Amino acid sequence: MARPIRVGIVGCGTVGTAVVEILLTQKERIREKAEVEIEISKVAARNWSKKRFFEVPENLRTTDWKEVVESSDIVVELIGGVDIAKDVVVESLKRAKPVITANKHLLAEYGREIASLMKKFKTFLFFEGAVGGGIPIVKVLKETLVSNQISEILGILNGTTNYILTKMEEENIPFNVALEEAQKKGYAEANPTFDVEGVDAAHKIAILANLAFGGFVKFSEIFVEGITNVDLLDIKLGKELGYRLKLLAIAKKRNGGEVEVRVHPTFIPFENPLSNVDGVFNGILFKSNYLGELKLQGAGAGAYPTATAVVQDIIQAAKQLTCCGKIFDITALGWNDKSLKVAKDFYSRYYLRFDVEDKPGVLYQIAKILAEEGISIAGVLQQEWILKFLPKPSKVIPLIILTHKAYESKLKRALEKLENLSFIKEKPTLIRVEEEKY
Ligand SMILES: NC(=O)c1ccc[n+]([C@@H]2O[C@H](COP(=O)([O-])OP(=O)(O)OC[C@H]3O[C@@H](n4cnc5c(N)ncnc54)[C@H](OP(=O)(O)O)[C@@H]3O)[C@@H](O)[C@H]2O)c1
Repeated sequence: MARPIRVGIVGCGTVGTAVVEILLTQKERIREKAEVEIEISKVAARNWSKKRFFEVPENLRTTDWKEVVESSDIVVELIGGVDIAKDVVVESLKRAKPVITANKHLLAEYGREIASLMKKFKTFLFFEGAVGGGIPIVKVLKETLVSNQISEILGILNGTTNYILTKMEEENIPFNVALEEAQKKGYAEANPTFDVEGVDAAHKIAILANLAFGGFVKFSEIFVEGITNVDLLDIKLGKELGYRLKLLAIAKKRNGGEVEVRVHPTFIPFENPLSNVDGVFNGILFKSNYLGELKLQGAGAGAYPTATAVVQDIIQAAKQLTCCGKIFDITALGWNDKSLKVAKDFYSRYYLRFDVEDKPGVLYQIAKILAEEGISIAGVLQQEWILKFLPKPSKVIPLIILTHKAYESKLKRALEKLENLSFIKEKPTLIRVEEEKY
């Protein structure tokens, strides 16, 4: 067997500790199965007096990430964020050292810069753990689907928000209560902003859109709406209408070459393969020309699932170093240095809830304004069964309108006009519906 490959790990928290544990305890298995010898050179953390769930041997510990880079053939970045993590990645690539990372934030914001460094210094960076934790999403995109044209990716890519939405529906509780429960169980961080505001899912769909469509989207151009304003009433009404509410990350290629990349609460029909992806699980649906629909589902985060993906990347990189030398990882679905134009307007079906005074003529006036903007109504609900969802008898009742597909810019114009009508008592609720047949 060739010489051992020295792997250095920067960051020994949730994922880093699990990576160290797997590499040390499964060394023989990896040698036997993958025919590669991996040795940990150094592991960096800030404060080694902290208790970790796996004890890192003292001779491997350091607090200096530069020492890790210096002493390793492959550098694993697992500190997160875009500050020091970026320095670690840039420095390693400049020294032509392959990098493994699970850092979606860094890749979504600086993917283009990082890809150009890979090219310039003829090295590579693998990042399976960055999207979907232990689910091999990147591998499927780069390898399985290499011969296919991908038209659409729909993903439930954030376990925290999926857990919260599932709990709201199952236990009939509002967002705040479900969030508290998620925090108690360790599924949401003390500061959950990145998760609940949809930013984490947006980082991931940006990475996937870049890979699938061969270029780079500007992260700031992605439309992102989180779940903090989701009302339990809409989850319940949606369910009655045959939909489940998910925080969906969507990437679509349009005929003209523009791409739609967006994250928002979305109604999907029960028959959508993602509708039963519940709790902390992640799920993804690829649509491509030859394979058709492909769904993957599994543990989208957590120490061991993510570490499994990181270790697989380490093995692949180690094999590449031992067998083929340093090559730039580029496939037909690799990163091309071109800009992807992000569509500013979407074409979708919509669920609208108007809280209106219960009096004649209301529906007529709403329908008139929608029609002025070319929005066609597919269904209207203001039936007695809706009243059973209201906490107490009220003079203001929900009127639900489902539209046919329309451009969102037109819908927003109509909603601006509607907000001024005196019988509409609250800002209307708009939820996008992802449903092919409409
Ligand atoms: N957690 C997950 O389930 C998960 C899933 C998918 C992807 N990821 C990604 O994986 C990466 C790591 O996440 P994590 O949850 O493992 O983070 P974490 O638990 O916060 O661990 C971060 C580690 O980095 C170390 N660190 C921070 N600054 C450092 C510095 N300047 N020098 C040396 N070490 C430093 C910390 O040291 P101390 O321990 O001494 O504080 C800690 O060990 C992130 O990019 C995250 O987005 C995480």
